[in-house]
Amino acid sequence: MAKSRVQFVCQACGASHARWAGKCDACGEWNTLVEEGTQAGGIGGGPASLRSARKGRSVALTSLSGEIEDAPRIASGIAELDRATGGGFVRGSALLIGGDPGIGKSTLLMQAAATLAKRGNRTVYVSGEEAVAQVRLRAQRLGAADAPVELAAETNVEDILATLSEGRRPDLVILDSIQTLWTDMADSAPGTVTQVRASAQAMIRFAKSTGAAVVLVGHVTKEGQIAGPRVVEHMVDAVLYFEGEGGHHYRILRTVKNRFGPTDEIGVFEMGDSGLREVANPSELFLGERSQKAPGAAVFAGMEGTRPLLVEIQALVAPSPLGTPRRAVVGWDGSRLSMVLAVLEAHCGVRFGQNDVYLNVAGGYRIAEPAADMAVAAALVSSLAGLALPADCVYFGEISLSGAVRPVAHMAQRLKEAEKLGFGRAVFPAGGDETAGMALASASFRPASLADLVARIAGSRRSRETDEGN
Ligand code: TYD
Ligand code: MG
Repeated sequence: MAKSRVQFVCQACGASHARWAGKCDACGEWNTLVEEGTQAGGIGGGPASLRSARKGRSVALTSLSGEIEDAPRIASGIAELDRATGGGFVRGSALLIGGDPGIGKSTLLMQAAATLAKRGNRTVYVSGEEAVAQVRLRAQRLGAADAPVELAAETNVEDILATLSEGRRPDLVILDSIQTLWTDMADSAPGTVTQVRASAQAMIRFAKSTGAAVVLVGHVTKEGQIAGPRVVEHMVDAVLYFEGEGGHHYRILRTVKNRFGPTDEIGVFEMGDSGLREVANPSELFLGERSQKAPGAAVFAGMEGTRPLLVEIQALVAPSPLGTPRRAVVGWDGSRLSMVLAVLEAHCGVRFGQNDVYLNVAGGYRIAEPAADMAVAAALVSSLAGLALPADCVYFGEISLSGAVRPVAHMAQRLKEAEKLGFGRAVFPAGGDETAGMALASASFRPASLADLVARIAGSRRSRETDEGN
């Protein structure tokens, strides 16, 4: 019999400890240590006595210039999903899709499975969370009930592997979710780090040995009661996160890791009554409910991977009743806002000291680019001065601590997207010849410093007083 040893494993980071403690030393999380028994041989290994008795067998060594299968990728036919995976599911690889419960992971994968199965790929969907009837119900709602997807409600890894080894080699295997799987190899409860890791390892080994594409679904959990997807992130070939804001219908599929493609791509979807709909032009979605005349709104021409994306930034600057005025940000970096405010105060003579400042990115979208500095500054000044910015103008550019405006990447692409959506003007950094000859570039204002932009916005009051039609 295997020799069992008790240890305490952090469900957040997977670190193991000899003794229980309230706080994990490795990651600093509280109340995440759970007692788990492991075989002395380690995770995924066989019983220690058997392992020591078995003699290694020699494996065939091979050369780099071997045969490669014709179509190493299976395109799902859902363009936004293929964009995020870098062109489709890769044969012989394991992909992890993580996300909050209820965000739409099962829906997305069922839609992908149905499309692939209809094209003649053998597609197996193993649900460990829902009964067969529930999965069928969802498929009906998605209009995918007639797709020849092979369905099973099973959680034991050995049973799943035995099932998969029958018949034709599957092209795509979906395991929903990794936290419900358990293997005979580990003796702790399903959902614990040991089980999740051992099960994932078995399924990844299956992918590599058969050439099937395996998709693992992982729930992100706030409490440490079940292990999060993080513990398998390093084992799989690609990691995608499915995100969305409560109250908004759109969902973003973000690539976090990809051994076979770029990692800065996103796929955008909208959740509707009959499943997820692709959003081919996300800018239209994020600019949808724009109010044209309100002060404090500026349209930022951003980039997500290789795709330009226009989104509205809203600022509200209001006199504060408090001694220490409030600064609140949704969708952007709070310290970046403090920096822009400091530059406006120090170099442009704009005072925010007695005002509350609120910043919001419309549509619940989240911006990570420093190129948003210029749009944020424009929105802030516009709100403080009570002057609406021109509705047909986009803004982008990075602001340095000295108050200078710095060029950013992909300027031509940003302008092209703005042009396509009917914007007629742009405010962006000087320098960089890539935009030469563009119609929008000629109708642009290209400030060298933030002070120039502030002067221009303040100057619009005077021109408006003399020329109302502007
Ligand atoms: P689901 O795919 O079950 O989420 P996950 O697998 O990530 O936990 O999606 C569940 C949510 O999606 C649920 O709140 C209902 C909603 N939904 C729709 O709005 N329309 C649909 O057509 C479907 C299938 C689900
Ligand atoms: Mg689900």
